[in-house]
Amino acid sequence: MSAAPIVPGTRRRLVVVGSGIAGLYAALLAADAGADVVLLSKGQLCESNTWYAQGGISAVLDEPTPGDTVAAHIADTLQAGAGHCNEEAVRLMCTEARRDIAGLERFGVVFDPGTDGGPALGLEAAHSAPRILHAGGDATGAKVAAALIRAVLARQAGGSLALHTGAHATALRQTDGHVKGVEFLQDGRTLTLRGDAVLLATGGAGQLFAQTTNPAVATADGLALAVRSGAAVSDLEFFQFHPTCLVPGAGTPGPGTARGLDQDPLLISEAVRGEGAVLVDGNGKRFMRAYHPGAELAPRDVVSRSIALHLAKLGDPNGHVYLDARVIEQAKGPGFLAKRFPTLTQRTLDAGIDWTRELVPVAPAAHYWMGGVLTDLHGRTTVPGLYAAGEVACTGVQGANRLASNSLLEGLVFGRRAVEHFLAGDDGGAPPRGTDAPRAASAAGGLPLTHASAPLPRETMDAGTFPAVLVGEPAASAAPGGSRPSNFGGGSEPFSREALRRMMTAKAGVLRSGELLREAGDTLGRWAAVVRPGTVAPSADARLHEDRNLLLAAQLLVAAAQERQESLGAHYRSDCPEDASGIREEFDTTYPNRPKVSILHD
Ligand code: FAD
Ligand code: SIN
Repeated sequence: MSAAPIVPGTRRRLVVVGSGIAGLYAALLAADAGADVVLLSKGQLCESNTWYAQGGISAVLDEPTPGDTVAAHIADTLQAGAGHCNEEAVRLMCTEARRDIAGLERFGVVFDPGTDGGPALGLEAAHSAPRILHAGGDATGAKVAAALIRAVLARQAGGSLALHTGAHATALRQTDGHVKGVEFLQDGRTLTLRGDAVLLATGGAGQLFAQTTNPAVATADGLALAVRSGAAVSDLEFFQFHPTCLVPGAGTPGPGTARGLDQDPLLISEAVRGEGAVLVDGNGKRFMRAYHPGAELAPRDVVSRSIALHLAKLGDPNGHVYLDARVIEQAKGPGFLAKRFPTLTQRTLDAGIDWTRELVPVAPAAHYWMGGVLTDLHGRTTVPGLYAAGEVACTGVQGANRLASNSLLEGLVFGRRAVEHFLAGDDGGAPPRGTDAPRAASAAGGLPLTHASAPLPRETMDAGTFPAVLVGEPAASAAPGGSRPSNFGGGSEPFSREALRRMMTAKAGVLRSGELLREAGDTLGRWAAVVRPGTVAPSADARLHEDRNLLLAAQLLVAAAQERQESLGAHYRSDCPEDASGIREEFDTTYPNRPKVSILHD
């Protein structure tokens, strides 16, 4: 990597928050380049969205599937993103992918081999060629994370990297507007860590919704910390729902069962549809072809929306559909599912379903936030000294709807680019408007970069009101505004995390309308008046911090969704159902989705 030489005695410190793919990889690169690196994670190192990734990492390597090209990967990403991507960021990500796949391999990641000696390449929805690298079949995230964690622990043992687990970042420290460290909770104490710059790699926010594929750590912490420090955010109306999350206990075809909050989520990877599985409704009828020519391999937003619309049409809006994986074994022979998808085979069996013989009940669930903290192509946010990479960031590569398996890749490429920028010694300035990053700025024609300027309570935006928590002192154990029900007077249901999640699913989920969003905004406003999500909870209870972060993120998401009075990508308004991109038709004819063959060349 191109890094400035490190002069002994002048090592600059990078604080990395989060131990998913973006944080682990960035921390390793920075430590190996000689920087003073401190990695914080709020749970154990393995607690991340990354750990649960199944399908894999998309990349066009030196020996791709015949006919596949980097240009085709770029075109697929732009098309899935509904014309809302930052084209330059997409080009960079797809072009530099092979460099970071090699980087992963250097840190010990081993991808599943194909028959020709190179890596096996899977196909996923909206990719025009098989280009998904995977590890351990459907255990890609765990295999990748485990290798990176081993490498991090080795460097910790060797003294080149410091590590704090169970360290819950609660605020960013700023001096003269420049981020100079983080405050975090650990063992009931609030501590401060100083650094020359902070890289937020805190992942997403699936816990905003009642049904999610994300683990418990996905509570929008990084976004909230960044917003409170004045950073711009972008594209928050675009939240992707994965079409096929197992509905436990749903049984055999028939009317749907309501899904509950506490069920353990199990994503059924898109790679299963890539291998040939199809979706059927409760009547056993295959329905996707009626909604999109790509059928089950249409872009993810389309498949989720089609399921929701189809269920509504059948009069069962809270129901589910079925994934038929039996057809895969019929086509590829007995034992194929267990070999290609060992984890899913076991996990579905644990749920009482033998998917070689039975249908799998599935429904959409909150999966991935395309929006986030606005960054440029070097991971810089609009606040000096603050970088962001991975799901917490919005580089614009994911547009209005992320292409499958492009998230792990984004975390790698932009995590590395942020480190390169930090190592070059220039982390001092916010990215200039209108040059290499602020797609939001140029798209909005000079409007403020942040959707946070949308109708939020004044208090929400006030970054100067952090309560003074004494560093090193035990903090109070309870505070107003936590997840315990509190009566905010005048509203209907009092605030709790569970109420928030239910409300977000009902009013800001797969299908939205102006009226639902207005109701959501009203409820959130009433809750915010009591919970005060614009401020840091004066509490040592990490859950209270998460609650405030979730509420702040929900307000920002709903405000952005209210502002966008059109349907685009994953943001679908039933009161304005036409796709606003206007480019989809053009794309469909220019770049037809042809598995294994691309019309483009590098
Ligand atoms: P994460 O992996 O989520 O890591 C965030 C880290 O930050 C965690 O360690 C967390 O504990 C820590 N953290 C959060 N808040 C704080 C705080 N306040 N203080 C300290 N630490 C904090 N994408 C693909 O490209 N391919 C796939 O096959 C794929 N499959 C998926 C399957 C599932 C079930 C899920 C949930 C997601 C999948 N995705 C996939 C999406 C992808 O996994 C994530 O977008 C990606 O892993 C995000 O990486 P990250 O490093 O940005 O964040
Ligand atoms: C999946 O395996 O279906 C998830 C892939 C992704 O989220 O990119």
